[in-house]
Amino acid sequence: DRPVRVAIAGCGVVGGGLYARLSADPRFQVVGVLVRDPARPRDVAVDPALLTTRADDLLAREPEIVLEALSDGRAGHDLIVKALERGLRVASANKQAISLDPAGLQALAERSGARLAYSAAVGGGVAMIETLRKAREAGPIAGFEAVLNGTVNFMLDRLDQGAPFDQALAEARAAGFAEEDPSADLEGHDSAAKVRLLAYEAFGRLPEHLPLDALNAASPPREAGVRQIGACRSIGGVLGAEVRLKPVEEPLFLALHGERNALRVVGADGRVWTCKGRGAGRHATCESVLADLHDLVAA
Ligand code: NDP
Ligand code: HSE
Repeated sequence: DRPVRVAIAGCGVVGGGLYARLSADPRFQVVGVLVRDPARPRDVAVDPALLTTRADDLLAREPEIVLEALSDGRAGHDLIVKALERGLRVASANKQAISLDPAGLQALAERSGARLAYSAAVGGGVAMIETLRKAREAGPIAGFEAVLNGTVNFMLDRLDQGAPFDQALAEARAAGFAEEDPSADLEGHDSAAKVRLLAYEAFGRLPEHLPLDALNAASPPREAGVRQIGACRSIGGVLGAEVRLKPVEEPLFLALHGERNALRVVGADGRVWTCKGRGAGRHATCESVLADLHDLVAA
């Protein structure tokens, strides 16, 4: 059997991990790797002939599947659109890209005979999208709440242990948990994109308003057990959503530490679905993208 031709967009924490795995796997042929700066030192040795800075050039290398892990939401969205228009199969870890217009991207994929998967975009290695789909298959959903940002979770632990704010942030970045611009984590935009995607899965639409709490060095002292919690609930057909720093009420979340994420979905009939695990970092996230890749190969 000939290897499946795969293009990788991004070669940082996630894209670099995907390259390392796929370039060593004879079932796949990496045909191109999209980056901004080919001269940038990387922690994985990429064949320089594979590097390109142009999305059109990446797609001209005739991949069958595109794995998208850019740190730029708009650039990721534009690449996904071009790939889907060509009928390609796409797996994305980029929640900012997908949450811009999940319904539009899915409709485009259906029109073009393409496929779009994004398990890694919410919850890193935790099967949150799959858990919500399972809950939705069982009946209408009343709402969900979740710990969705590994960086803030990790930092809250370190701050509670007495670490200075800048050191806690530097450790989260060094571990590969933080976004390229970590204000996305700290100001709640990363969790907000994930809440939007989960709301799309739960209710088929996006919440209109989504107020955020920010964590910064000047944040007031916190009570013990505070987490950054994203939530969405349908009240009389209106979707109320938020990302708040608040004490956890559910024992599910109390056991959480480090980069771990958790989700609790409540059905309209009171049934509850939960999942939790590693929500950020190279290994956990690559496992999730690779699971999507294997589904796409089989599709
Ligand atoms: P990094 O910052 O480590 O890497 C981002 C990569 O994207 C870099 O290789 C960069 O190129 C490339 N890039 C950014 N903008 C462009 C552009 N306009 N054109 C071409 N290349 C571009 O990010 P991560 O790997 O951590 O994250 C990637 C995506 O995965 C993000 O959307 C993130 O939200 C998501 N994600 C990350 C997780 C994590 O734990 N890290 C977990 C789950 C999802 P260059 O190297 O040349 O600068
Ligand atoms: N920056 C994100 C986080 C990566 O800390 O959770 C996973 O989506």
